[in-house]
Amino acid sequence: MSRVSRSAPSFESQSMRELAELIRSRRTINLYLQTAVPDELVREAIDAAIWAPNHHVTEPWRFYLLGRETIGRSVELVRQIVTEHKGQKAGDFKAKSWAEKPGWLLVTCRRSEDELTQQEDYAACSAAVQNLLLYLWQAGVGSKWTTGPITRDPRFFELLGIDADAELVVGLIWYGYAKVTPTQKRRPAGEVLTELP
Ligand SMILES: Cc1cc2nc3c(=O)[nH]c(=O)nc-3n(C[C@H](O)[C@H](O)[C@H](O)COP(=O)(O)O)c2cc1C
Repeated sequence: MSRVSRSAPSFESQSMRELAELIRSRRTINLYLQTAVPDELVREAIDAAIWAPNHHVTEPWRFYLLGRETIGRSVELVRQIVTEHKGQKAGDFKAKSWAEKPGWLLVTCRRSEDELTQQEDYAACSAAVQNLLLYLWQAGVGSKWTTGPITRDPRFFELLGIDADAELVVGLIWYGYAKVTPTQKRRPAGEVLTELP
């Protein structure tokens, strides 16, 4: 049965309000409880995420779920990178903060030599990430999409065994149960919407 019906539910219906609330309430989480999120939930989230629109059905996304050992090595790498640029104290501070992120999922996008395809593939991967974050949020799991310098450092690609000539990083997604959920604001939609005749 088609999901598209001529009598689409009113935006005032409960399910539409719940959907809007899910989208609006999702927040980037910085502080997490040290409770592990089951891998099975993350696999389910990925399974839903990949139904994002993608032009020519290129399915350009790749996901890397990091285990404890790889997380530990990534934390040491960030300590090294930050120490190189800002000194030992800053490196230790960053490493401590990163070590407190319970779950790590890297999302990459296949590289394309064609500029338009690359742009469209990246857009599709971004849509997949949003699907993933919303799925997790609905399950009570917070997340943070990060694109810090480590995600562009060749040593990070090497550590994960990713070919930097074939894939680019869309984001490193940290996830876990939120200790604190921040507030955020958005400008009203009317300020960013132009309605044409
Ligand atoms: C492509 C992308 C990259 C991001 N990278 C970072 C980052 O490196 N560090 C960070 O603190 N937040 C990062 N964020 C999260 C944004 O800061 C966050 O979405 C924004 O503050 C709005 O908060 P909200 O997600 O709670 O609505 C990134 C978000 C996106 C979409």
